[in-house]
Amino acid sequence: MSRLTELLARAKAQDAQLGADLEREVKALQSRRAFGLNFERHQPEAIELPGRPVRKGDKVRVLPERGSAAKGDQTIWTVRTVTKGVARIERAGGTGPEVIEMPADDLVVVAEFRDPIFPGLVSTGKVERGGDKPFHTVINAENYHALKALTYTHRGKVDAIYIDPPYNSGARDWKYNNDYVEADDHYRHSKWLAMMERRLLTARDLLNPRNSVLIVTIDEKEYLRLGLLLEQTFPEARIQMISVLINTAAVARGAGFGRSDEYLFYVMLGAAAPERLRLDREWVSGRGRTHTGRVRWDLLRRSGTNTQRSHSPGCFYPIYVDPDTNVVQYVGEPLSPGVSSAPELPGLVAILPIRQDGSEGNWQWSPTTFRTRLEEGRVKIGGNDRRGFTVYILKPGEYKKIQSGEFQETGRASDGSITVEENDSSVVSAIPGTQWKISSHDATQYGSRLLAKMLPGRTFPFPKSLYAVEDSLRFFVSSKPNAIVLDFFAGSGTSAHAVMRLNRQDGGRRQCISVTNNEVAASEQKALREREFRPGDPTWEQWGIADHVTKPRIEAAITGRTPDGAPIKGDYKFIDEFSMADGFAENAEFFTLTYEAPLAVDHNRAFERIAPLLWMRAGSRGPRIDALPAAGWAVVDSYGLLTDLDQMELFCAAISREEDARIAFIVTNDNRRYEAVARELPEGVEPVRLYESYLSNFRFASGGEE
Ligand SMILES: C[S@@+](CC[C@H](N)C(=O)[O-])C[C@H]1O[C@@H](n2cnc3c(N)ncnc32)[C@H](O)[C@@H]1O
Repeated sequence: MSRLTELLARAKAQDAQLGADLEREVKALQSRRAFGLNFERHQPEAIELPGRPVRKGDKVRVLPERGSAAKGDQTIWTVRTVTKGVARIERAGGTGPEVIEMPADDLVVVAEFRDPIFPGLVSTGKVERGGDKPFHTVINAENYHALKALTYTHRGKVDAIYIDPPYNSGARDWKYNNDYVEADDHYRHSKWLAMMERRLLTARDLLNPRNSVLIVTIDEKEYLRLGLLLEQTFPEARIQMISVLINTAAVARGAGFGRSDEYLFYVMLGAAAPERLRLDREWVSGRGRTHTGRVRWDLLRRSGTNTQRSHSPGCFYPIYVDPDTNVVQYVGEPLSPGVSSAPELPGLVAILPIRQDGSEGNWQWSPTTFRTRLEEGRVKIGGNDRRGFTVYILKPGEYKKIQSGEFQETGRASDGSITVEENDSSVVSAIPGTQWKISSHDATQYGSRLLAKMLPGRTFPFPKSLYAVEDSLRFFVSSKPNAIVLDFFAGSGTSAHAVMRLNRQDGGRRQCISVTNNEVAASEQKALREREFRPGDPTWEQWGIADHVTKPRIEAAITGRTPDGAPIKGDYKFIDEFSMADGFAENAEFFTLTYEAPLAVDHNRAFERIAPLLWMRAGSRGPRIDALPAAGWAVVDSYGLLTDLDQMELFCAAISREEDARIAFIVTNDNRRYEAVARELPEGVEPVRLYESYLSNFRFASGGEE
């Protein structure tokens, strides 16, 4: 037994939790690599849940006095009783039985690292303009908890995650343990990495391992550390970083170059790869032969490497051309070594891969390949008898562009070669490079200003350009019309808006899940505190991002109306130009994540809270079963619920009639009876078991994966 193990055993004997915590940290240290990212994971997050009623057994903090801007006391207390609005609380952590009484209103519930959480969802409104399309969902929540809840509804099902996390600029852009992380915080980077790692580890469970992508935006403050973290968290993925010009004017940086770009990390899982798309000319270099709008004919004679006859003797053969029509009449066999001129054929000219200086080269294709491709119209003869003839060919890559319709074939020329319509050279078909300088990605114009048109008078710091997010996703979801996209740092809701635009462009039914907390901006917090408001007060909460920006922005995008009901002024630009007042034929529903106390909740209420999670798991579309069915079962478009197993026959018959039903939720604590129902379900309907204490189905331990 090593000294360390012995010490750990002693610590465990005295305090089991302390021992376990120490052991975990030692393991983390032991697993550290010599090279790579080392950071302190020792700072557990304790997340305050303002507005959540205080109940017996909760962990709480005492709020600072109304009107005070001071940081509150960070001590964590445990609630022993709550009677008539007064809570008896005991100092947590075993430092002595200090018990005090406080008005429950002056307490805020805290979810500490590894506390069990019982999440629920409460609908706070919806907009419906999309017929039977699935709903975009917006969840007002601490994203770590929302991600955990989504592991129940979307494990392995997400096609693309786009996130724009706080950049950790040191300028009060995010909080850890309820405190802004400032520039001089020694643990600034550790805290950020710990926060990100926890979320990425859970997000990983949501991504489809066979084909999905994670896109993370970041700037120069954390891109190095983020890159390493992504490599460590997704060792199996292919990762690329794009530099995106977001501000041509460049923001001055003290004693440094002006900052004009930010970065996009693409983490590609399984078969995921960027698609070749029709793009504006801006996306590719104007130089070179690739993007000219014309199909490219290459020389048959090999250039570059392996260009000598001796490198490929089988590719030194004559091609006989009629000099009056430039039509290939005959393809000869490779000449014997040492022979440099072809047998003559009457009236025809033989072309060999011989350069002007007389040196002998080789053709890129064998005679057999040449003959087949000649038939396909992929050969063209240039020049004439006097100047000499040149053989041009359509190589496989270019020919594929014709086959795929990127270039329209118009017929055959008199020499039998394919003729192709010239494309508009302002649009190119390409997979772009890793440096994007696209005018529509300007965050000021197409982020802040666009948002101001939709939500006049409301501000949000640094929304992304709508078109930048649209483009970032486009490369991975263009050919996935039913893609599920997730943004768990949704902010003003740009991703959901971008997904709606993508749907409009091709009639897709993609859905976006947006998660954001209801954080009130630092500047507004000050004014609210002075007016004696605190987090949890309705007046405070209405200024939070989710309620004040995310939800109204998505509503406005769909309805085409500002929150005051006025048509939004202006037009969408680029790829799909139309009036913003037209809105979108889409559906969206808004939810707040709740934290339930399983013991205090009756069956009906518990079910109500998990009902949206079941509906989301079944695809977030059509009607929802919101209450426990009196008949013991219910079936809607996309799923069914059986609570009384004696009604199994009626239930199975009903769900068989529902063509689009995907899931049958079967409520029972009895394994045998569950199996019996599962066997009777029609094909294509997945049985999912729920325990009778509804909330326990969704219980998770905060931070359990570390
Ligand atoms: C940089 S902004 C994203 C902006 C967004 N891309 C846009 O275009 O509007 C990050 C957002 O994540 C939210 N956020 C930060 N930490 C969070 C957390 N732990 N849970 C949920 N949301 C969080 C912040 O409130 C902020 O609105």
